[in-house]
Amino acid sequence: MYKTHDCAQVTETLLGKEVTVCGWVNSFRTHGSIVFVDIRDRSGIVQVVFDGNSDKFDNLNSLRNEFVVRIVGKVRSRAEGMANSKMKTGQIEITADELKILSECIPYPFDINDIENVDETLRLKYRYLDLRRPYMYSNIYYRHKIIKAMRDFLDDREFLEIETPCITKSTPEGARDYLLPSRQFPGEFFALPQSPQLFKQMLMIAGMEKYFQLARCFRDEDLRSDRQPEFTQLDMEMSFVESEDIMKIAEEMVAYMAQKVFDIKIKTPFKRMSYYDAMNYYGSDKPDLRYGLKFKEINAVFETIDFNVINSVLKTGGVVKGFKVIPDRKLSRKDFDNFTKKAKFYGCPGMFYYQKLEGDFKTSIKKFLTEEIISKLEEKFELQNGELVIFLAGENEKINPLLGKLREYFAGEFSIVRTKPYELDKMTAENLEFLWVVDFPLFEKTADEGVKSSHHPFTSPLDNIDNVKKNPLSAMADAYDLVLNGYEIAGGSIRIHDSKIQKEIFNLLGISEQEAEERFSFFLNALKYGTPPHGGIAFGIERVMMGIFNNGNIRELIAFPKNTQGRCLLTDAPSNVDAEQLKELKLKLTDNL
Ligand code: AMO
Repeated sequence: MYKTHDCAQVTETLLGKEVTVCGWVNSFRTHGSIVFVDIRDRSGIVQVVFDGNSDKFDNLNSLRNEFVVRIVGKVRSRAEGMANSKMKTGQIEITADELKILSECIPYPFDINDIENVDETLRLKYRYLDLRRPYMYSNIYYRHKIIKAMRDFLDDREFLEIETPCITKSTPEGARDYLLPSRQFPGEFFALPQSPQLFKQMLMIAGMEKYFQLARCFRDEDLRSDRQPEFTQLDMEMSFVESEDIMKIAEEMVAYMAQKVFDIKIKTPFKRMSYYDAMNYYGSDKPDLRYGLKFKEINAVFETIDFNVINSVLKTGGVVKGFKVIPDRKLSRKDFDNFTKKAKFYGCPGMFYYQKLEGDFKTSIKKFLTEEIISKLEEKFELQNGELVIFLAGENEKINPLLGKLREYFAGEFSIVRTKPYELDKMTAENLEFLWVVDFPLFEKTADEGVKSSHHPFTSPLDNIDNVKKNPLSAMADAYDLVLNGYEIAGGSIRIHDSKIQKEIFNLLGISEQEAEERFSFFLNALKYGTPPHGGIAFGIERVMMGIFNNGNIRELIAFPKNTQGRCLLTDAPSNVDAEQLKELKLKLTDNL
């Protein structure tokens, strides 16, 4: 046996016993002839003491950080005053009898104990070294535990875990496909799935009734801090259900997972909000409800203002809208300059502010504010000294998302919401604000005045198809998104199970009969063979973790992620391929397109 114990298992219960531990040299220090070495494995750290004068340890001088060692020794209490109550193994140390160096380590490219200041490029290039940090290990550990709990829950509810192909035909989830040229069929392409959507629906037609899968999804889209080109869904589908059934089981699964993994009791059912309210009051389809900063429409406050920018907005049916926020400090001129800069960065046409102060006020539109306007504004927001109102003027649909960005910015800026990851041992259910967003529009307008699906084209409308056809843009979808602390962690819907309605929807989306035939004939055909009513949902595993940990960096939650440009810095992919490989695929590279 290489080792008898994990490092963190060596505690007072083993006093006087001989143990063998293996791990990496985390650090070492010398006191006269005594050498203290901290050994780290995935469980934690244990302190080992060497007698530097002993001829048993002729290799001790060559020891360096991150060497891999095996140590045999006896467990004893630390000397008076040397105990460390923060460490699991802080009461004891191992007095070494044997030291074997199993493997050496060339100098580390970064400081393994510095969590905040290491350039991410280096971390991604040497991911295997980055993953050695206890912080990253903890992320990977909890990822496993979260997935395991979800799997156990679904197994218990008689869901079947069924794999669907990764080398397949394109499915429309709104992103670009990753394509795979076929060697056997030159000129033809497979696509990596954006999700298993059509396969899971066909599993319902096949009578599987309750399906789930930990599915890898691939989407070639512009990356953001919460998006990866390759990510994992806990994907589910059920037959003979309505949206309420799916939302209920999703809530039960989340509550089970939180209890099992974090020992937290989450209150169900979760809150609900319509898409319209989410946009109108919080400027986001995934509002973070750990804080308020709810928008108020304040047209009436400004009806007498003599300020062209606001007058013209009011005259053309626009709105003046804003929210109240309480600063966490005295604000300087520089602060206000920064706020304005931030608003510009978000694309706000102009951001206005008003801060009530003791017998005074600060505002960006002093010239235009009469006493009447000021008193109406203060009354509308019940302003106390020091409180600040941020507001924009414009078309409602346009300013909502801008105000939404400002709302998030000010919540972070004034420490209203925590922006750093939570320490998991201090986590409580109050830190987790779940919200179902419902009543989504079925379609959204595209730039060329057409429509596209808000979810995906297989989503059932809430209304009957004739009404949908009459007025597509006011049709609602039988769809739901689950939001946690401002992250969209899951999305799903009830599906269309009638091939005629499915065809009508394709038609409305401007997908011609011929195109639908080419892309989806297999599926439209399948729908004709006795399709049960069905629906489902998919959780983004990384997003679930982002919400729970309050970690805005999705890459820290994946063992081997891509960087923000979609490259794998570790393997340096994508990369060129041999001319021979291209020839086999009958592909030719050209700039001439
Ligand atoms: P949707 O496209 O909403 O729905 O995806 C479901 C969930 O997957 C996560 N997600 C992502 N996570 C990381 N990186 C990405 N690029 C990314 N894109 C999506 C989100 C999202 O809520 N087939 C449907 C599900 C269904 O209707 O059942 C689908 O894929 O958490």
